[in-house]
Amino acid sequence: MMEEKEKKDLYILGIESSCDETAAAVVKNGRQVLSNVISSQIDIHTIYGGVVPEIASRLHCENINGVIRLALKEAGMDFSGIDAIAVTYGPGLVGALLVGVSEAKALAYALGKPLVGVHHIEGHVAANFLEYPELEPPFVCLIVSGGHTHLVIVRDYGSFEIIGRSQDDAAGEAYDKVARAVGLGYPGGPKVDRAAREGNPYAIVFPKGEVRDHPYDFTFSGLKSAVLNHINKAHMTGEEINVADLTASFQYTVVEALVSRTIDCAKAYGFHKVAMAGGVSANSALRKAMQEACEKNGMSCYYPAPVFCTDNAAMIAAAGYYEYLKGSRAGTDLNAVPNLKLGER
Ligand code: KG4
Ligand code: ZN
Repeated sequence: MMEEKEKKDLYILGIESSCDETAAAVVKNGRQVLSNVISSQIDIHTIYGGVVPEIASRLHCENINGVIRLALKEAGMDFSGIDAIAVTYGPGLVGALLVGVSEAKALAYALGKPLVGVHHIEGHVAANFLEYPELEPPFVCLIVSGGHTHLVIVRDYGSFEIIGRSQDDAAGEAYDKVARAVGLGYPGGPKVDRAAREGNPYAIVFPKGEVRDHPYDFTFSGLKSAVLNHINKAHMTGEEINVADLTASFQYTVVEALVSRTIDCAKAYGFHKVAMAGGVSANSALRKAMQEACEKNGMSCYYPAPVFCTDNAAMIAAAGYYEYLKGSRAGTDLNAVPNLKLGER
């Protein structure tokens, strides 16, 4: 009788430092989170009203060793149990990325372990695999982060076909700018999310931002200008701004655009699985609206838990696992690529 070869479990250490979170995580077989440590720099950047790249790099340097040590400890293991190290190498802030990349290269070299370079956005998409063990490509995914608004078909693990994108601001950027304009400060997304809960989404009608001849593209610059005009007009006439109504109306317009294009895309391309990824997918109104639209159209809706929507290293380990299985390996020449495009390696 032929003995069946037992499949070996794979433990990936993920490292993420592309923006203002220093993060490390251990993930088993690309799906099971054994630890997820995130050291957020938000308190310090809040003083300046946004991420200061130089400060971000310095804090990553200070914290990265402790964060990795804690991720191993929480997973109940040491370096010897790790099969590969996966690190974000782009896109992001170059100085911030370099800290994670240098650390990962040093560890891989010293420990003699394989190194895998991970695209940050591929990581965001892979956060869905942590949440839904049964989810497999292909599916439609709306990627909405601070720097990206992309509607893609995930053909296979790490393989994307871009169907639509923002022609100007990313959704997260629009949230952050509106938050600043109404005095909610940084980080804008969660603050707008909270303020909007008390407001009337139909109070102010904002432009929908359709892009002619590009049914799956987005534009948020007209909406942003309309919000700023509304605020300026109120200042000039001495009227008080109703922040709850303003943020609720802004959010309603953004969510409408994101959900309608995503559902249209899934219908047109014949998909019944719709996922979301990136920091803005933590938004409560977007999650509710996408869920409802999917149910109405007989589609399954997937989105990660909020902690896996925003930047974390478990998603990098998950994406790294599938890259590792494909045979992707990085050498000591791996470099940070700040403007790495989606679909590039
Ligand atoms: O994915 P992410 O953590 O970092 C990038 O890769 O950019 O996304 C950060 C963006 C920020 O613009 C932030 O304001 C937004 O995600 N965000 C939200 C929420 N939480 C984070 N936007 C709307 N509602 C939220 N609850
Ligand atoms: Zn991100």
